[in-house]
Amino acid sequence: MGVLPATTVALVTGGGSGMGRATAHAFADAGARVVVADLDAEGGKAVAGEIGGHFVHTDVTSPAAVENMVAETVAHHGRLDYAVNNAACPPDTTRIVDADVESFRRVLDVNLTSVLLCLKYEIAQMLAQDGPCAVVNIGSIRSMRAQAGSPAYTAAKHAIIGLTRTAALEYAAAGVRVNAVCPGAINTPMVLKARTARGESEADMAARLSLLGRLGTPEEVAQASLWLCSPASSLVTGQALVADGGYLIR
Ligand SMILES: NC(=O)c1ccc[n+]([C@@H]2O[C@H](COP(=O)([O-])OP(=O)(O)OC[C@H]3O[C@@H](n4cnc5c(N)ncnc54)[C@H](O)[C@@H]3O)[C@@H](O)[C@H]2O)c1
Repeated sequence: MGVLPATTVALVTGGGSGMGRATAHAFADAGARVVVADLDAEGGKAVAGEIGGHFVHTDVTSPAAVENMVAETVAHHGRLDYAVNNAACPPDTTRIVDADVESFRRVLDVNLTSVLLCLKYEIAQMLAQDGPCAVVNIGSIRSMRAQAGSPAYTAAKHAIIGLTRTAALEYAAAGVRVNAVCPGAINTPMVLKARTARGESEADMAARLSLLGRLGTPEEVAQASLWLCSPASSLVTGQALVADGGYLIR
């Protein structure tokens, strides 16, 4: 309790599952009032219920829905201090020569354009109120290193770093810090689905993707986002914090 100033308000997109759920819990435990936004109403309502938070049914690919997500947050809590833009769909699974343009556009829409929309409406609200604010965009180790067979996901996650830096540059002077967290292989429903589809065991995946020999937990990534929003990171903006068990240093 108490890592975040009292009466502050946090918004987590994709908060109904995996890392979003853990992030919603971490911000609530740290003392913030939390709004959970998700396309999945069942998962989102369940998490909001667990933490005494507010649920907003949101498709982050829709400008009107994202505008409403922020408006409902403010209607409910009066302000928006922190946002974690975490919602995404799983990676595509075809190489470039076989890529389908519509599927490519869809992954960019859910995993990249959504982040622009969230930044646009979240930062507009942050500029309209007093006090320091912070946004975290969830990238990936695929923000730094390509993966054969996932051109759209890799492109979207790389571009999230560009968006993060641009937003940080544009709004630092106004007191809004914007950073990214780039997780490695984390034990969430998204990864379980992908791993099962490939017939890969958890131990094999951990050996392939982490120096620590285990998958990360959603709670470990949530702590990185929490730190980047807390006053403890007040000098940090425009950065990409990698939480990957050392995978990228090999
Ligand atoms: N799990 C990993 O190993 C891993 C690694 C690197 C990065 N990431 C990133 O972390 C984030 C969370 O991943 P996760 O593994 O917890 O995934 P998850 O599938 O468990 O959760 C994603 C959530 O986003 C929601 N969502 C999907 N499309 C949406 C939309 N259009 N509008 C609103 N909500 C939508 C889903 O309903 C779900 O609740 C994603 O950005 C993902 O790309 C995950």
